[in-house]
Amino acid sequence: MDAGTKTHNGAGSKHSESESMYLAESSDDGGPIEILFAVREEVGALARALRVFEEKGLNLRHIESRPCRHAPDQWEFYASVSGERPGALDALLLELRSQSAGSVLQLSRNKRKDAVPWFPRTIRDLDRFANQILSYGAELDSDHPGFTDPVYRARRKEFADIAFNYRHGQEIPRVTYTKTEVATWGKVFRELKKLYPTHACREHNHVFPLLEQHCGYSEGNIPQLEEVSRFLLGCTGFRLRPVAGLLSSRDFLAGLGFRVFHSTQYIRHASRPMYTPEPDICHELLGHVPLFADPSFAQFSQEIGLASLGAPDEFIEKLATLYWFTVEFGLCKQEGHVKAYGAGLLSSFGELEHCVSGKPELRPFEPTKAACQEYPITEFQPVYFVAESFEDAKDKMRKFAATIPRPFSVNYNPYTQGMEVLDSLEKLRQLASHVRGGLDVICDALQKLHT
Ligand SMILES: [Fe+2]
Repeated sequence: MDAGTKTHNGAGSKHSESESMYLAESSDDGGPIEILFAVREEVGALARALRVFEEKGLNLRHIESRPCRHAPDQWEFYASVSGERPGALDALLLELRSQSAGSVLQLSRNKRKDAVPWFPRTIRDLDRFANQILSYGAELDSDHPGFTDPVYRARRKEFADIAFNYRHGQEIPRVTYTKTEVATWGKVFRELKKLYPTHACREHNHVFPLLEQHCGYSEGNIPQLEEVSRFLLGCTGFRLRPVAGLLSSRDFLAGLGFRVFHSTQYIRHASRPMYTPEPDICHELLGHVPLFADPSFAQFSQEIGLASLGAPDEFIEKLATLYWFTVEFGLCKQEGHVKAYGAGLLSSFGELEHCVSGKPELRPFEPTKAACQEYPITEFQPVYFVAESFEDAKDKMRKFAATIPRPFSVNYNPYTQGMEVLDSLEKLRQLASHVRGGLDVICDALQKLHT
């Protein structure tokens, strides 16, 4: 069976669309509520804030402080509170916001009304959920080609263990692939490479030779994630991170917000080189990686991730569907032809031919429609969405993201590798100052070009 006829090669298997499972947390009923608030560094500021807790009848169960990363004259406090008075929490948040110079956020992973789901604030926070996986990579379904192969299963466990023990900042452990594994890779590589010149988008065809030149992409070699990750970092700031199993959609998408792509490292079973029921290293390296090296596509992918941070569950599902129809199975128009940019297509010989065969239905990319489109995950897609360009898709995605009900906007700061929550005038002023600096550089450069 061909890779495309019974594989979904991507989002669906690496991260579940419907689950919003997250870090373990106590139930909603009477459990503690977590709050993050900032106060100016001045005498009596904390005491004033704490008086509000008392006035509103909320018990302070735990509090810790840290210097505010975004405003040197402020301190940030994490507090865990409980209380039974109706409306006390809302009143507390309102009062704190009126007297605080910085942000005031309620943190929760429960589905409490108006609560903002927890999301990573720094790239290191990705360590917190990296092992909150829905299933371990070594666990195979009974219809998996490697299910009855003890050698393959042991190998899968080795890969899962590497990812499980990985932490941000470490080098991704190098793997010596066996002859059988390299042979499997070689078959996939050879067949797909024949189709790329005619079927893949311009960006993929531009980057692919660079990967051959710099990252050891060849029929006889499976590239190392670490080398590929370094290459991506130099191109667009994207990096790879090994993943031990199935992540929730929320967690997987959050990684994209930090330009981190959770990647598998194992390869499909040798008995079925053109088929895989889940993402494997062929899918990641041949399908995803070339596009993440393109600045415009990298930004588009990050937009999906940024939109997901703190979004309600129903929007996570919509964003995961948009991810499916773009990053996994997206098509785009180039020089009057339809070309593939989705990784699920670029890593599947069968579906890459199918998507431009004239048989499936092609629709213009429109996020509000694509986000609600149903799709099969075990057969070729009957419907694809065609983007005018990455820039156009990015603009549309941004407009869609603006419809997500969130009480704040976020901005990724690549210098601190932190996620800035733009919920105060002070933070907006800082961002505006930074943007203005960039605009000044553009004006200066334009003037020099002109003269
Ligand atoms: Fe994928």
